[in-house]
Amino acid sequence: MTPARPPARPAPAPEPDPTTDQANKDAMSSPTTVSPASSASTASTLITNIAALVTNDPSLGSPLGLIQDAAVVIDGERIAWTGDQSKAPATDNRVDAGGRAVIPGFVDSHSHLVFAGDRTQEFNARMSGRPYSAGGIRTTVAATRAASDEELEANLTRYLAEALRQGTTTFETKSGYGLTVADEARALRIAAAQTAEVTYLGAHIVPPDHADDPAGYVALVTGEMLDACAPYARWIDVFCEKGAFDGDQARAILTAGKAKGLHPRVHANQLSYGPGVQLAVELDAASADHCTHLTDADVDALANSRTVATLLPGAEFSTRAEWPDARRLLDAGVTVALSTDCNPGSSFTSSVPFCVALAVRDMGMTPDEAVWSATAGGARALRRDDIGRLTPGAYADLTLLDAPSHVHLAYRPGVPLVSGVWRRGVRVV
Ligand code: NIG
Ligand code: FE
Repeated sequence: MTPARPPARPAPAPEPDPTTDQANKDAMSSPTTVSPASSASTASTLITNIAALVTNDPSLGSPLGLIQDAAVVIDGERIAWTGDQSKAPATDNRVDAGGRAVIPGFVDSHSHLVFAGDRTQEFNARMSGRPYSAGGIRTTVAATRAASDEELEANLTRYLAEALRQGTTTFETKSGYGLTVADEARALRIAAAQTAEVTYLGAHIVPPDHADDPAGYVALVTGEMLDACAPYARWIDVFCEKGAFDGDQARAILTAGKAKGLHPRVHANQLSYGPGVQLAVELDAASADHCTHLTDADVDALANSRTVATLLPGAEFSTRAEWPDARRLLDAGVTVALSTDCNPGSSFTSSVPFCVALAVRDMGMTPDEAVWSATAGGARALRRDDIGRLTPGAYADLTLLDAPSHVHLAYRPGVPLVSGVWRRGVRVV
């Protein structure tokens, strides 16, 4: 079936504002607004009495650019000023953070949120000893193809609201559970209505309908499907793995996407050693994602490139797999991002704080490194410099923690510490 002709590629869309009733209820525990709070994005707002402010401004002496006893001024949708609270300029509104910590909103640069159904049984079986494999994706493909647009949209909106309540202000999301021309284009159209960071992943697996003709499927992914999907997407991704796509197929797919103006990112070296990371570097991919099984040459290649290693500890947690070695990457000078990989199979969590805690506990990251990777690192993985930092000119995307320090994200795992979120200067949680 030929999909309806898509519109021209959307301009960097306003990202979603899935404010919910629940989010509004959470404001009970929020800091005091001293003068009338405004949701209008034209007024200026001072957030003061911040015990610890993470700016990610390295000129302040550390990657995290921490300021104690700090204040932030939001002007419209941007950050106008940050610094010592005693020096803050006058503003229209004032919010007292009550001695809490403020960090940049999380940048979740890897998720798969356009899907239907769940895979509880598969998870249960795995926790009884069955190994994870790429094949489970087929279950979600069947459910997603059978779902209506409205179901997929409602699912996506629900997971976005869930992520927002946990401090995520930017997210990337992928197709990959449709795997027909019409179903992939539909997934991307639905995603593009919610975020500017949309990734075409027609090469997630070879679907059952092409099981006997993988070359034919690659031709479809690089041909008719790419034509239908490119207008909705910024990125192209391939699951480069045994049981999915090999290095040559992945190169052909990513190269075809580049020719259509999409920029590569790669699911690389998740379940086994393989060519994914080297291919990502060769093609100047923004990110090589997973990076669990790396040779020294893979680490060197990443260290000598601008390709970010995006680590997704929710996947290792939920598949009882070996952890990626963040310490090894950081010590080699690789830029590391941390993201959720939220998907119904291998990592059904939308919580960046949970991933931060795992990365600190099990992957050798310090709390400072993990918070940087989940904010500035995610921004690098999306090649963005307007998010992931709280410095003048950046978008006013902030997460207020009900804690005196960002370290509590790892120190108090599983505790809902996010007590306020501003997106584009508007308080949404
Ligand atoms: O990132 N690795 C490929 N894609 C997902 C898994 C998707 C699934 O199991 O449904 C991942 O882990
Ligand atoms: Fe993934």
